[in-house]
Amino acid sequence: KNLYFYETIDSTNNELKKMAAEGACEGTVVIALCQTEGRGRRGRRWQSDAGSGIYMSVLLKPDLPPTAVQSITLLASSAVCKVLEKYVKSGLGIKWPNDILINNKKVCGILTEMTSEPDKVQAIILGIGLNVWNREEDFGDELKHTATSLCLNTDREISRTQLVVEILKELEDLYLNFVEKGSSAKFMDIWRCFSVTIGRDIIVIQGENRWQAKALDVLDDGRLLVETPDGKRQTVLSGEISI
Ligand code: BTN
Repeated sequence: KNLYFYETIDSTNNELKKMAAEGACEGTVVIALCQTEGRGRRGRRWQSDAGSGIYMSVLLKPDLPPTAVQSITLLASSAVCKVLEKYVKSGLGIKWPNDILINNKKVCGILTEMTSEPDKVQAIILGIGLNVWNREEDFGDELKHTATSLCLNTDREISRTQLVVEILKELEDLYLNFVEKGSSAKFMDIWRCFSVTIGRDIIVIQGENRWQAKALDVLDDGRLLVETPDGKRQTVLSGEISI
């Protein structure tokens, strides 16, 4: 009942952020066919042409501290993977924290944004961008080696409505389990099962800094546990990695 559908919008995250400020309730969803200013992580843009993908944002208001936002991100990538698994035979994986890949090319990105009081979340805007119908030539020089779409990797027919419903159902299931039981075990099991990061040698990229490490595990709060070449263990809260 709280689903808003737009043909064109600047960004579903921006729109939902406005609605949240005006008191929209938890579970409100904004979906658009096309975004003129689709945003990715780290200030990047997210290609959002009409007919190419699913662009949607979901409003969550968990009664949790602001650190929970990282868990919500992992929860969302687990939910999307559970759905994509039904379409894609092999090569599906999650790169920490939340890039969903098929054979090492990105098919889905997640952008979680939050407003909070000092120790409590006010609202989390969970934005999901899924490349669905893009053909190889749609990606252009910049993305053609790093991006892919669902239709390039499935022989199943794809219905927009069905995909959206499946993703929202899976999200709801994992989210309610998380907030009601207070345990991230269920979605972390799924996350670990799809992880292409754990056990790998990686490069951690934090601003201008780049360093090598081995990814050992992901903690329940979403931090990545790594070991540096000199044998020291530490956690990485945010940043980007290359594998
Ligand atoms: C990433 O950089 O991996 C995250 C991409 C997130 C894109 C989605 S599309 C729907 C929502 N609205 C936006 O402007 N961005 C997110």
